[in-house]
Amino acid sequence: MTYFRQNIEKTVGYQPGFQPSFAKATEGRPKETDVVKLNTNENPYPPSPAVMEAIRNISEEQLRRYPDPLGNAFRKAAAEVFDVPSDYIMCCNGGDELLKIAFCAFCSENRPVAYPVPTYSLYPVLANLQNCKTIEVPFDSEFNLPAKLASADAALTIVCNPNAPTGSFVSVDEMKSLADELSGVLLIDEAYVDFAEDNCAALVKDFDNVIILRSMSKGYCLAGIRFGYAIAQPALIAGLMKVKDSYNVDAVATAAATAAIRDQAYFRQNVKKVKDERARLTQQLRELGFDVPDSSGNFVLAKCKNHKASEIYEKLVEQKIYVRYFDYASVNDKLRITVGTSEQNDKLLLALKEILSEFG
Ligand SMILES: Cc1ncc(COP(=O)(O)O)c(C=O)c1O
Repeated sequence: MTYFRQNIEKTVGYQPGFQPSFAKATEGRPKETDVVKLNTNENPYPPSPAVMEAIRNISEEQLRRYPDPLGNAFRKAAAEVFDVPSDYIMCCNGGDELLKIAFCAFCSENRPVAYPVPTYSLYPVLANLQNCKTIEVPFDSEFNLPAKLASADAALTIVCNPNAPTGSFVSVDEMKSLADELSGVLLIDEAYVDFAEDNCAALVKDFDNVIILRSMSKGYCLAGIRFGYAIAQPALIAGLMKVKDSYNVDAVATAAATAAIRDQAYFRQNVKKVKDERARLTQQLRELGFDVPDSSGNFVLAKCKNHKASEIYEKLVEQKIYVRYFDYASVNDKLRITVGTSEQNDKLLLALKEILSEFG
């Protein structure tokens, strides 16, 4: 006997990366313990000072009232960055909310979703909740866009670009051809695109079936406030808006995200620091004997050539160093490692060196 719909009953919910607890607050703010947390692709640096200022300036009146249902201050600021009218933008409670809205808006029992695999493990969970069929098309060994994705021609096609957890990037021209071939909607999940060399945002000007997902959690260091957004033509945005909660973005998050996206100078400086560290981490992991393809995200996927990835993962956990291990085909011989500060990366590299010599 269950109270739940059958598909909810059989769904194993999304498993977020482990979040170590915070130590007691010191100097008025929570401080992490000696944990090195490289498992959920957060940005290792603080957000722009303009964000903290915006949060401090929140008035009692803003908290007493419901927030702007559309987050118009943010839409205007984002529209300037992308050189589109503000009705091309929809604010969301994190990029994850946009995914949920898209499944609800486009998918049902007879309207499948298609995506290349391996990819973000939330997609099949949302498909189960929506009770829609999934068409999973494997990437080849170089993570090129599979041709079968276009021929599947699903109601909703999702391409995570840069892809998680591989860090691979499909060129804008290839994405353009895919958008052209599909009769359904193409959602390009650009949660990690801030760390890539190119992006697909301009496709929304030419294609009425493209939705770009962006997140403020990665390049803008705001995973804690939950803010993401869609970029798409106004007809798609208007349809998606019917599905969202009335007040899906709160006043504090909207003020913080608006301040963050307005501070493009800080954003660019931050992204450069992460990319510089990514290059160093990649190089050093290769020197330790890992296979590490170039990554376009704020993480790298390191293949353990001579030892089990799960065993290295466990050894790292013993030292309170958290990376991500996924126990599914094609990635269970690899560790996904978020690019941390140089100090965090050094701790990880030293620990890996010791573990590898212990294993012999
Ligand atoms: C591929 C991908 N898409 C979307 C998201 C959603 O990001 P958020 O909800 O934090 O904006 C994430 C988060 O880690 C992600 O990895």
